[in-house]
Amino acid sequence: MIVTLDGPAGAGKSTIARMLADRLGFAFLDTGAMYRAVTLAAVRNQGPWDDPSRLADLASRCEIEIVGRTVSLNGEDVSELLRTAEVTSHIHYLADNPRVRKGLVDLQRDFAIGKNVVTEGRDQGTVAFPTAECKIFLTASPEERARRRVMELRSRGEPISIAEVLDQQNARDQRDSARAVGRLEPATDAIDFCTDGMLPTEVVDRLVAIVREKAQRADG
Ligand code: C5P
Repeated sequence: MIVTLDGPAGAGKSTIARMLADRLGFAFLDTGAMYRAVTLAAVRNQGPWDDPSRLADLASRCEIEIVGRTVSLNGEDVSELLRTAEVTSHIHYLADNPRVRKGLVDLQRDFAIGKNVVTEGRDQGTVAFPTAECKIFLTASPEERARRRVMELRSRGEPISIAEVLDQQNARDQRDSARAVGRLEPATDAIDFCTDGMLPTEVVDRLVAIVREKAQRADG
């Protein structure tokens, strides 16, 4: 069974998707980490940012492996290097590139072969797994998402204002929603789920119930 969890940055997808996969005993696929890994390779190569074709060639030569929480790029564990501001600010060069997206979607489908999977991203229910049995579109209001992000950054000793986070978040949402291929949007058969005011455990409890109901329907 495939469960897709799509939604904007900061809606809590990664945390929720991991917890949900654990609760269900499913494999977990963090597709954002794949985009981050090819972006890290491009940052190290210094682009070339103005040449989509060479960026796609570079991405196609990347060997990406995800095992649990460990992401390897060409055999090197890069898990701790994927969330830097430099990687985040360059992702759009790779994520907007249709050839890069096609390569990563193929990899995502390969990962899911023969497995029960919770997969998390922007286009999992629309492009990567259009026939998935259960599709969730996870949202939260921009203010709540920004508040959560500020708390996370402050707990890491990185003080930042809500206004600054809101600006960055809006810019990322706009880019993710505007791209020609694989844009951020709910699949027509996705369940819209807003997490405002809910604890992660409450969200996961509800999602487990939704997945089980879908699984029963698919069986019977
Ligand atoms: O989820 P995360 O913040 O790690 O994703 C980083 C970026 O990768 C997103 O802002 C988006 O631009 C891109 N992405 C994507 N399609 C996915 C997953 C991530 O375009 N399936």
